Amino acid sequence: MKFAWFEVAALTASVANANSLAYSPPYYPSPWMTGEGDWSEAYTRAVEFVSNLTLAEKVNLTTGSGWMQESCVGETGGIPRLGMWGMCMQDAPLGIRFSDYNSAFPAGVNVAAAWDKRLAYQRGVAMGEEHRDKGVDVQLGPVAGPLGKFPDGGRNWEGFSPDPVLTGVMMAETIKGMQDAGVIACAKHFIGNEQEHFRQSGEAQGYGYNISQSLSSNIDDKTMHELYLWPFVDSIRAGVGSVMCSYNQINNSYGCANSYSLNKLLKGELGFQGFVMSDWGAHHSGVESALAGLDMSMPGDVILGSPYSYWGTNLTISVLNGTMPEWRVDDMAVRIMSAYYKVGRDRFRTPPNFSSWTRDEYNFQHSMVSEDWGKVNERVNVQRDHAQIIRKIGSDSTVLLKNKGGALPLTHNEKFISILGEDAGSNAHGANGCDDRGCDNGTLAMGWGSGTANYPYLITPEQAIQNEALEYSNGQTNVFAVTDNWALTQMAALASQADVALVFVNADSGEGFINVDGNEGDRKNLTLWKNGEEVIKTASQHCNNTIVVIHSTSAVLISDWYDNDNITAIIWAGLPGQESGHSLVDVLYGRINPGGKTPFTWGKTRKDYGPPLVTVPNNGADAPQDNFEDGVFIDYRRFDKDNIEPIYEFGYGLSYTKFAFSDIKVTPLASSQRGEYKATTGKSQKAPVLGEPSTVSDNLFPEGIKRVRQYLYPWLNSTDLRASSGDPDYGMDSKDYLPEGATDGSPQDLLPSSGSSGGNPGLFEDLYQVTATITNTGSVTGDEVPQLYLSLGGNDDPTKVLRQFDRVTIAPGQSLQWTTTLTRRDVSNWDVASQNWVISGAQKKVYVGNSSRKLPLSADLPSVE
Ligand SMILES: *[C@@H]1O[C@H](CO)[C@@H](O)[C@H](O)[C@H]1NC(C)=O
Ligand SMILES: *[C@@H]1O[C@H](CO)[C@@H](O)[C@H](O)[C@H]1NC(C)=O
Ligand SMILES: *[C@@H]1O[C@H](CO)[C@@H](O)[C@H](O)[C@H]1NC(C)=O
Ligand SMILES: *[C@@H]1O[C@H](CO)[C@@H](O)[C@H](O)[C@H]1NC(C)=O
Ligand SMILES: *[C@@H]1O[C@H](CO)[C@@H](O)[C@H](O)[C@H]1NC(C)=O
Ligand SMILES: *[C@@H]1O[C@H](CO)[C@@H](O)[C@H](O)[C@H]1NC(C)=O
Ligand SMILES: *[C@@H]1O[C@H](CO)[C@@H](O)[C@H](O)[C@H]1NC(C)=O
Ligand SMILES: *[C@@H]1O[C@H](CO)[C@@H](O)[C@H](O)[C@H]1NC(C)=O
Ligand SMILES: *[C@@H]1O[C@H](CO)[C@@H](O)[C@H](O)[C@H]1NC(C)=O
Ligand SMILES: *[C@@H]1O[C@H](CO)[C@@H](O)[C@H](O)[C@H]1NC(C)=O
Ligand SMILES: *[C@@H]1O[C@H](CO)[C@@H](O)[C@H](O)[C@H]1NC(C)=O
Repeated sequence: MKFAWFEVAALTASVANANSLAYSPPYYPSPWMTGEGDWSEAYTRAVEFVSNLTLAEKVNLTTGSGWMQESCVGETGGIPRLGMWGMCMQDAPLGIRFSDYNSAFPAGVNVAAAWDKRLAYQRGVAMGEEHRDKGVDVQLGPVAGPLGKFPDGGRNWEGFSPDPVLTGVMMAETIKGMQDAGVIACAKHFIGNEQEHFRQSGEAQGYGYNISQSLSSNIDDKTMHELYLWPFVDSIRAGVGSVMCSYNQINNSYGCANSYSLNKLLKGELGFQGFVMSDWGAHHSGVESALAGLDMSMPGDVILGSPYSYWGTNLTISVLNGTMPEWRVDDMAVRIMSAYYKVGRDRFRTPPNFSSWTRDEYNFQHSMVSEDWGKVNERVNVQRDHAQIIRKIGSDSTVLLKNKGGALPLTHNEKFISILGEDAGSNAHGANGCDDRGCDNGTLAMGWGSGTANYPYLITPEQAIQNEALEYSNGQTNVFAVTDNWALTQMAALASQADVALVFVNADSGEGFINVDGNEGDRKNLTLWKNGEEVIKTASQHCNNTIVVIHSTSAVLISDWYDNDNITAIIWAGLPGQESGHSLVDVLYGRINPGGKTPFTWGKTRKDYGPPLVTVPNNGADAPQDNFEDGVFIDYRRFDKDNIEPIYEFGYGLSYTKFAFSDIKVTPLASSQRGEYKATTGKSQKAPVLGEPSTVSDNLFPEGIKRVRQYLYPWLNSTDLRASSGDPDYGMDSKDYLPEGATDGSPQDLLPSSGSSGGNPGLFEDLYQVTATITNTGSVTGDEVPQLYLSLGGNDDPTKVLRQFDRVTIAPGQSLQWTTTLTRRDVSNWDVASQNWVISGAQKKVYVGNSSRKLPLSADLPSVE
């Protein structure tokens, strides 16, 4: 089971259409860390630390101890000699998975819908604090892959938005928050991880498709740079300590052994200084993945639960037998320890005080093998006052899609309120009643899979609305709820008496290892779940003030009913987390004036979004192929290109007040005149080699050590390397499989587009300033999200792309001048030939407004040389 680019090339040579299959060019050697920019102090400390380590100790840092062998979802070995316990990796991007007394935050998609950088940062800090205090070293998030190419992609909600700029900004703010709190963030999944179907061949076999390899996302270089790589650039600029490589292949080479994406793009061009860890079970080869740029194997085993590893003992052996240059292992360890020092792990560390595998206070410490009974859950409460920020993000991310005749806000004078729909109520099995939220019972406040946290409680809409209505009316309002979606008769009876019918519907999705109602992670359709359309129909036939609230992981089809006159308001509340009901009533009753904007497009049909998910293998028993033929044209860019009218466009959302835009001004900045953009030239330093060479006998299992069964140690069973490896292919002539240049530690040519964390520093110079005036022309204070779009002007370019935004609060009658800037990166295209960014000669234009289709202001961009 070794899949590296060269073997795949050999494999695919046997299939009929081999020549047409996408291919990933080799790129070696793997760039070693330089300690550039604000990594320098951490780097210096890491080099000093790693210089003192033995080979086995370095290897321990790179390899997980095995699935369910320690408390966290992944834990590396430690260095007991120096008092360092193993590093703990823990899901999830919205809070701590598999824990207790922790918060359940709003999902990434809601953070995007709030368009608020400050809230994204605050959520990052709050999540970081919780992980830190539970003893987590690396929080496995945030997510920029999937980006959201497919509206029905199962895990889009874990990330932010199909727009790379909105996602990039939210990635950066979340990362800064998490790392300021003292935990290492992990930008994932790198890259092209756009669907759940076929992401792992084993999983696909589980639902009836016997394929030998994971799906290949075939992405051309321009699309890669202008779309999918973009938010990872922002993550790296924000200093992210780790990146997780993905399950899928890219151009038929596995994400965690793809030298082009890891060595060239991530570590070469973007100068990523942290470490690359594998997704759980995405590691498929030993020496090859190490040379292709992987730095940490998670959770360490060949397949989850196996007693062997591609690394661990094998990595030690590969250095001892001269196949793996020691500088590469040094670089892995230095990258890991640099991230550790950079976020202050040495100051903030506490051992993990919870177990991912049981909620019992006492249980086995090594759950996989039932060894060592002890206290595994200290039940430390880490929630603090985070409920407040959760409630705030929930309400600030609420998108008001329709509001006819001021149906909202409610007044507290309602005499009879009907609450209709299962999505308003509790999960009859309890908020955490389904493992990893793998069901759609009761109100939906997060999707399913590894991107989840246990709720400490879940405020349902029904609870919050009833409490609010009764409190303000002294118990005089009549409030009823029907939460059985097939009790249409009872719903009709209530709706016909109500002065407002609040209807709750949802659509769920999640990760591919759980199937909910026939949805293999990805959604099988874009319609509502659980009879939702009939619930809406029933309510609207009997109540002329029907208000629909949608909880969904992404867009749903609403064509059949959104323009019904009896439906007076529509709210998208996304996946708001534990404070769901509270966040909603704040908006329903006008305590919070909604300012959220939809972070994706609401189309009339699935077809409007472009190519479908790959749900049937299209390459025999070999890797299914997803040719990203839509290029950069996903979401609103696709609708613009095909001239398709959406129902609600990207960036759209109403307020209880109104805003006007005026007075756009574009000013070239001094740097744009100064500005020759310089391609980076020259060579790197040679790879540093740290510490003393190791011998076979230094790395034998120490005498008298207690071996936990199946535990992955870095040591050898005997001085016989072949026997210690146990690999049937051991000793295959390295010339046959070592890619050219892969072990070369001499100075290497630098890439023209490289130079700092995130790429060539010239890309981040501000070239233009843009100002515009925003006026609140209504009668209440409200938040507006000014959005700046740019037309790059070329024939192959989208009509417009988002480049800047902010969220501002303006009192009625007041105006505010919004000032923003455009960088060289913002106005450039990726040029495949020169492998660099260039500003094309095409006339460019800026637009400012409050949605991707409501852009009252525009101005030509003066050209720069
Ligand atoms: C994938 O192949 C395309 C087409 O040849 C190429 O432009 C791109 O750089 C390749 N990407 C990777 C990661 O191999
Ligand atoms: C490394 O070892 C040297 C010499 O043994 C010692 O002086 C130094 O403090 C050690 N540094 C670290 C980071 O352990
Ligand atoms: C590797 O880590 C394991 C688990 O922490 C520990 O038992 C072992 O002693 C470590 N090995 C070395 C060489 O430090
Ligand atoms: C799956 O395919 C492999 C290789 O083609 C074959 O050996 C195996 O028997 C197949 N398994 C099933 C369940 O069809
Ligand atoms: C070494 O890796 C091979 C696969 O390449 C695997 O079969 C073997 O079990 C591994 N050995 C150890 C000791 O983990
Ligand atoms: C809860 O979810 C499970 C799993 O999807 C389902 O079997 C069960 O019927 C649901 N229960 C209720 C009350 O909806
Ligand atoms: C779409 O999928 C949901 C969830 O599985 C299901 O409830 C619904 O009936 C499906 N819609 C259609 C039109 O089949
Ligand atoms: C709108 O609601 C009223 C009841 O208030 C009902 O008589 C009418 O038929 C409804 N209209 C539609 C289109 O359902
Ligand atoms: C809704 O119906 C009620 C009585 O059935 C009527 O008083 C009210 O004006 C109607 N509202 C709208 C918006 O049509
Ligand atoms: C090394 O020894 C352990 C303990 O006896 C055994 O379980 C394991 O299979 C051995 N590893 C190999 C590769 O033979
Ligand atoms: C060196 O060790 C690695 C890891 O066990 C193994 O895959 C490789 O085949 C070995 N190479 C040689 C030349 O012995």
